[in-house]
Amino acid sequence: MSALLPRKQLGILLSQLKGFPDPSPNMEQYEVSDEVAATIVFTAATYGDIEDRTVYDLGCGPGRLAIGAALLGASKVVGVDIDSKVLNVAKQNAVQVGVQERIEFVAQAIETLSAKADTVLMNAPFGVQRVHADQPFLQKALEIGKVVYSLHKTSEGGRKFITRFVSNLGGRISFVQEMSMALPATMNFHEKKRYTIQVDFYRIEKQEETV
Ligand SMILES: C[S@@+](CC[C@H](N)C(=O)[O-])C[C@H]1O[C@@H](n2cnc3c(N)ncnc32)[C@H](O)[C@@H]1O
Repeated sequence: MSALLPRKQLGILLSQLKGFPDPSPNMEQYEVSDEVAATIVFTAATYGDIEDRTVYDLGCGPGRLAIGAALLGASKVVGVDIDSKVLNVAKQNAVQVGVQERIEFVAQAIETLSAKADTVLMNAPFGVQRVHADQPFLQKALEIGKVVYSLHKTSEGGRKFITRFVSNLGGRISFVQEMSMALPATMNFHEKKRYTIQVDFYRIEKQEETV
């Protein structure tokens, strides 16, 4: 694990990055909070899944998870998002913290992505606007990665569904951790300044194929 950057410092750097310039509710463009992003990346680093690894961030938005991985020593990071406008912000964010040499941002729908990763990090659309919008993300993550760290909206039905879905794709859940995540008001229909939602953080390992 990177000895260079303490978790607190990681959280501070992530909190200073810019967010979505023009967030679309249809694409569920909600940004992971700096606290939760730091937890995801730090946990992955503790498992040995970041340093010197090739890391993909699917649906990277402004890049908090991707940039966090680069800050903790990933050898190569690729952030993928369908929205090229937000990737311009992600690129500026990477420059701001000096990790642009090890990060590439690709404007592409994840469904058409062909890649090989050690680790996949993602905070995909939860499927609030389009039911099961997270499914193609899980599918692609397990196709390209050996281990996946993924954030989902907490619900008992959702956990059962994800457990079955992941198992059918040849994955095994090593843990699920429930967390609170603060969301600032970013959409024009938001009435409060801040919302807190419950999220489930999963670590999923791809099972070795047996012959
Ligand atoms: C909930 S946001 C999360 C953004 C970022 N990962 C974060 O946590 O701050 C989901 C992201 O997925 C992107 N997205 C939605 N559908 C996509 C698709 N089919 N392929 C690639 N990106 C997609 C959206 O543009 C958005 O940036």
